[in-house]
Amino acid sequence: ATPRSTNLQRPIPPEIFERNGCPFDPPAAMKALHDRGPVTRIDLLNGAHAWIVSGYEEVRAVLGDARFSSDRLRYPSTLSMSPEEVADRQAQPGGQCPAAPQERKDGMFIFMDAPQHPRLRRLLSGQFTVKRMKHLEDHVRDVAVQLIDVMRADGTQADLVKAFALPLPSLVICELLGVDYADRTEFHHSTAVALDLSRPSEERRQASGELRQFMAKLVVAKRSHPGDDIISGLIHDHYDPPLTDRQLVDMATTLLSAGHETTANMLGLSAFALLENPDQLACVRDDPAVLDNGVEELLRYLSVFHNGPTRFATEDLTVGDVTIPAGDTVVMAVPVANRDEQRWSEPDRLDLTRPRTSHLAFGHGAHLCLGQQLARVELRTGLAELITRLPGLRLTTPASEIPLREQMVVYGVHSLPVAWD
Ligand code: HEM
Repeated sequence: ATPRSTNLQRPIPPEIFERNGCPFDPPAAMKALHDRGPVTRIDLLNGAHAWIVSGYEEVRAVLGDARFSSDRLRYPSTLSMSPEEVADRQAQPGGQCPAAPQERKDGMFIFMDAPQHPRLRRLLSGQFTVKRMKHLEDHVRDVAVQLIDVMRADGTQADLVKAFALPLPSLVICELLGVDYADRTEFHHSTAVALDLSRPSEERRQASGELRQFMAKLVVAKRSHPGDDIISGLIHDHYDPPLTDRQLVDMATTLLSAGHETTANMLGLSAFALLENPDQLACVRDDPAVLDNGVEELLRYLSVFHNGPTRFATEDLTVGDVTIPAGDTVVMAVPVANRDEQRWSEPDRLDLTRPRTSHLAFGHGAHLCLGQQLARVELRTGLAELITRLPGLRLTTPASEIPLREQMVVYGVHSLPVAWD
C-alpha cells in the first residue's frame, strides 16, 4: 500500500472506527472485515499491514496462546511506526522479523510476557485483598451518592460525563493508590490529556511525563509514610527481590491508564444506551439488582475497548485457517467478536436479562483484566444510583447529536447532556 499521510497519529484507516447509524453497534467497516473472515489482513496508512481478528473463538484462541506476545519492546508494532520506519524495516533482510530479546527492568506488565509478567501480576493481584475491595465498594457508593448530590444541588441538568462518569473512577483509583484529595484534580487532568488521541502527540507525551512524575512523588511519599493503599502494600510487603521505584511507578501508571478511561467510558456509554432503550431502563428502575448480570450484557454490547488488545506473532502461527507470519501485529476487534452470531442469539439486541455468558470486554487469557471486579462494582453501583436517585433522567439533545469518541483508544461519548425531574 502507498503511505497516505506522513503525520499519522494511528495508521489504522479511520473508517474502521467510524460508527454509521447506531452509536452502540460496531462500526460498519469493522463488521465488513468480519464478513470477509474471522481473521483478515489490512493495509495500514503507513504502508505496513496488520491482522484483524473478529471472531469470538478466534479472539479467545489468540489471547489464550502465549506464542502471541504482548511485548511491545521486543516486537515493535506496525501500528506505532512512521511510513519512513516501515520503509526502512521492509528494506532489511528478514522484513518483519522480531528484534532480539531485551531484558525488561520496568513494571509495565500489561506489555510483558512470561516469566516477568506473571510475577508482577501476582504481586499486584495479591494487593486486591477482600478487605481492600470491601472498603472500595463502600467508597464507590459514597462517591456516587456525593456526585449525584452535587448534580442535584446545582439544578436539574448536567453533562453526565463531566459530572459523574469521569470523576467516579478517577476518585476510586485515587483511593486505591492512596492519592491525597488535594492532588486529585492534577491527576485527573493529566490522565485525560495523555489518553486523548485527538490531541497533538507532543501534548500527550508531556501529560504522560507529568503523570509519571506525579506517581514517582507518590511512591517516595509512600515509602516514608505508608497508608492503607495498594502502593504502600507493594512497597512494604517484603517481596524478594523488592520492587524498584521504577517498577512501582510503572505499576501505578498501568492501573491508572487501564482502569480510568475504560470505566469512565463504560459508565457514560451505558447511561446513553439505557436512555435509548427505555424498556431496559425501566427494568433497572424497577429492580436495580437486574444490573448484577446486566452489567455483563452492557460490557458485551458496548465493548468500549474497540481498538485492541494487540498482540505480536512470535513465530508463524495459524488461527482458524489463516497463517500469521512471525513478527506481524494482530489487533482484536472486540466489538465485532462480542456480537458473534455463532455465540449469541440476536447479538445486536441489548437484553439485561440475557443469561450470563462470558464476553471478551475484559480480554481473555494471561492478561485478563485485573480490575474487573472493581469495574463491575463501579458500573453496578454507579448506574443503579444514577437511575434511582435522578427520577425522569433523560437526554436533552437528540441522540444523533451526542459526540462520539470514535477515534479514541477507548470508545464512548465526549459528553452526555441530561436532565431530571
Ligand atoms: C487489562 C478492559 C477496568 C486494570 C485489561 C484488558 C482489557 C481490559 C481488555 C486486557 C488487555 C490485554 O489483553 O492486553 C477493561 C475494561 C474496564 C477495565 C473494559 C472497565 C469497564 C479496569 C480497572 C482496573 C483495570 C478498574 C484497575 C483499577 C487492568 C490491569 C490490566 C488490565 C492492571 C493488565 C492485566 C495484565 O496485563 O495482566 N483490562 N478494564 N481495568 N486491566 Fe482492565
